[in-house]
Amino acid sequence: MKILPTPEIYAGKSSLNVVNKLLDRLNAGKVMIVTDKGIVNAGICAKLQGAIKNRDIVLFDDVQPDPSIKLVELVVKIARSNNIQAVIGLGGGSSIDTAKVAAALITNDKDMSSYVGIDLLEKDAVPIIAIPTTAGTGSEVTHIAILSDEEEQLKKGIVSSKLIPHFAVLDPDLTVGLPPHVTAATGMDALVHALEAYISVNASSYSDTLALKAVSLIGENIREAYNNGANLQARENMLLGSLYAGMAFANAGVAAVHAFAYPLGGMFHIPHGLANSVMLPTIMEFNMTGSEKRFAQMAKQLLNDNNAGANCLVKEIYRLCNDLKIPLSLEELKIPKSAIAQLAEGAMKVTRLLANNPREITPQDALELYTKAYKGSAIAQ
Ligand SMILES: NC(=O)c1ccc[n+]([C@@H]2O[C@H](COP(=O)([O-])OP(=O)(O)OC[C@H]3O[C@@H](n4cnc5c(N)ncnc54)[C@H](O)[C@@H]3O)[C@@H](O)[C@H]2O)c1
Ligand SMILES: [Fe+2]
Repeated sequence: MKILPTPEIYAGKSSLNVVNKLLDRLNAGKVMIVTDKGIVNAGICAKLQGAIKNRDIVLFDDVQPDPSIKLVELVVKIARSNNIQAVIGLGGGSSIDTAKVAAALITNDKDMSSYVGIDLLEKDAVPIIAIPTTAGTGSEVTHIAILSDEEEQLKKGIVSSKLIPHFAVLDPDLTVGLPPHVTAATGMDALVHALEAYISVNASSYSDTLALKAVSLIGENIREAYNNGANLQARENMLLGSLYAGMAFANAGVAAVHAFAYPLGGMFHIPHGLANSVMLPTIMEFNMTGSEKRFAQMAKQLLNDNNAGANCLVKEIYRLCNDLKIPLSLEELKIPKSAIAQLAEGAMKVTRLLANNPREITPQDALELYTKAYKGSAIAQ
């Protein structure tokens, strides 16, 4: 079994206050904050800036959702011309992924496309501090960054241990203002990470332990975080659930749900968590055959019920999506039916993730799965 390193992690109320000491340890006098306008408007960036003392800060606050390769190239240009010594990714996965790749490209100076794939970065990145404001992608702990290739309308992964942040700071105060619909979608993304890591062909006892703990933390807290965003304990538990799910899937991988979600993001800009949620029941129904024991285990954790069986899992996913007002079909997301063939083609290209899936998926299966997800699955009713 191989276990990837993790950042040094600080979690809990007021942990943002540790950031300045971390920058001291990195001896970083010139720091870049990479974030987006939503985070600035929510007053979160000002909190971070207030916590950083006696050093120059360069602020890049124009990260877009599903960041593009072009956007990261711009961040790298600014970082290089300012001799940045540490990069802070503040925000959801879009900001943290942008910060991670930018930090790596400051030192790795080939064309970005030469690093898309697995273990292709050559030099260590400039030190990265990741501060998540969604719970979430788990990007604060993973060796993965996802970028949009706008020309190919596909999302592509850079996977390298050099992308693992030095430090991750999980302060629940930064997530209390997260709007309910973003809490729902990003929380579902974290749940999908845990579920897919648990059924991955590369699962280990290490990833299993983390995945099951993540499923139970998310199952117990996601509705409360959605309905009562100011509940700090629920917010902290969601951040921990997302962190553990990130650690699980960094080691075991995610699988077909993500492979099928990526073309929805690449072609139609459906937010990542929603794209995963809408594919989740259909793909999980398909994946249950042969993995019944693991499905039963996940259902027990998600429902906190020792009597729950394999069949309960997909039903609970539907209930959860209903409670969180998440669309349950591609039709509801206004995806044209005519796009199914291109979506299926796109999903089949995500071989890195399909290889982790417990059941083989053929091009014909891909067409059928999108067709089924177009209306939503039969178990829904
Ligand atoms: N690196 C990884 O391991 C990994 C894993 C999964 C997904 N991803 C990628 O991460 C991206 C999605 O990230 P995301 O789902 O976290 O969303 P996001 O970063 O795109 O943010 C979504 C929106 O929420 C707003 N927001 C975030 N936190 C807020 C807060 N606390 N208060 C108010 N508004 C807030 C942002 O301003 C933004 O408008 C996708 O590109 C996806 O492919 C990466
Ligand atoms: Fe994800």
